[in-house]
Amino acid sequence: MGKVSVAIIGLNGFLGKPVLEAINSGKFDDKLQFPIKALTRKEQPSTDKIQYITTDISDETVSSIGESLKGTEVIVELVKADPTLFGVIEKVVAEVKPKLFVPSQFGTDLIQVDDYAPGFLALKTQHSANVRKLGVKVVDVITSLFAVPGAFLYEIVGAVGIDPTTNTIVQRGDASSKFSISKLEDIGLSVVSLITLPISELPDTVRVQSQVISFQDVYDRYEKDHNVKLTVKEKYTKEEALAELKSKYAAGFEFKDFLFYLQAIAAQGVDKGLYFSEVHNELVNPGEKYWKWGKF
Ligand SMILES: NC(=O)c1ccc[n+]([C@@H]2O[C@H](COP(=O)([O-])OP(=O)(O)OC[C@H]3O[C@@H](n4cnc5c(N)ncnc54)[C@H](OP(=O)(O)O)[C@@H]3O)[C@@H](O)[C@H]2O)c1
Repeated sequence: MGKVSVAIIGLNGFLGKPVLEAINSGKFDDKLQFPIKALTRKEQPSTDKIQYITTDISDETVSSIGESLKGTEVIVELVKADPTLFGVIEKVVAEVKPKLFVPSQFGTDLIQVDDYAPGFLALKTQHSANVRKLGVKVVDVITSLFAVPGAFLYEIVGAVGIDPTTNTIVQRGDASSKFSISKLEDIGLSVVSLITLPISELPDTVRVQSQVISFQDVYDRYEKDHNVKLTVKEKYTKEEALAELKSKYAAGFEFKDFLFYLQAIAAQGVDKGLYFSEVHNELVNPGEKYWKWGKF
């Protein structure tokens, strides 16, 4: 397989830095065609490996972006999940016609959730479907919950029911119930490894995880890090959590409820969206050939 030409879109969220670090790591130099094109609204100086292209992403810039990405084989989208932005990027993809598109999924396995909570985050599912309709291979990279020191699962802990203002827990499902987590460095490396593989070997959904942990692991970690004792304030079974999810969700998606949705989904257990019986860690990092998976 020759070296692959790549563009990445959206650099200043959670995933830009780890993907750029993976590109710059040297681990995939024999498989990547440099420079990688990196689209961002924030100007910065290019390097041998990264050519930054400063641009807005809007209907007005579709054709100029299409022109600058001409001939690109792989487009990786790291942008925020936004229907307008997704729509514009679909137009860019239609112009560039890459061989592979990795959309901004990076979270819940929405196809699994669709079985019991139809339409959850449908904008992401729809986005992947729209690009597939263009005849472009799409690989949804599913990571479950991000574990980010200073942020998700360390300080932003609503997805396990912790209220940091009162040091209380609203427990949904068993404290021992398990879910997958991904460290950002692992996601960056997984994405870059994945796009260097022969496209014919790639499934439509690639699930990766750094580790499987439990709600209790997050409670313990939080107590230790913050030197506090958490008290369980309310307890619900996973069935009650599911009923609450369905009724809240039926009333319409509310961003303020997002961490609750994640907790209710995580409580459902294996192959329900956030804990996977089948992961593709060996596809992207066989025998930890490229890196060691991170730990919570
Ligand atoms: N599993 C989890 O726990 C978890 C947690 C958080 C996020 N996620 C997922 O990870 C993905 C990235 O989320 P994020 O929170 O990192 O996103 P974000 O910070 O909101 O945005 C990421 C980047 O998207 C680009 N962008 C945003 N709005 C734009 C606009 N109007 N026009 C052009 N570019 C725009 C920007 O790139 P530039 O600044 O370079 O222009 C921005 O830095 C999403 O799919 C999200 O759902 C998952």
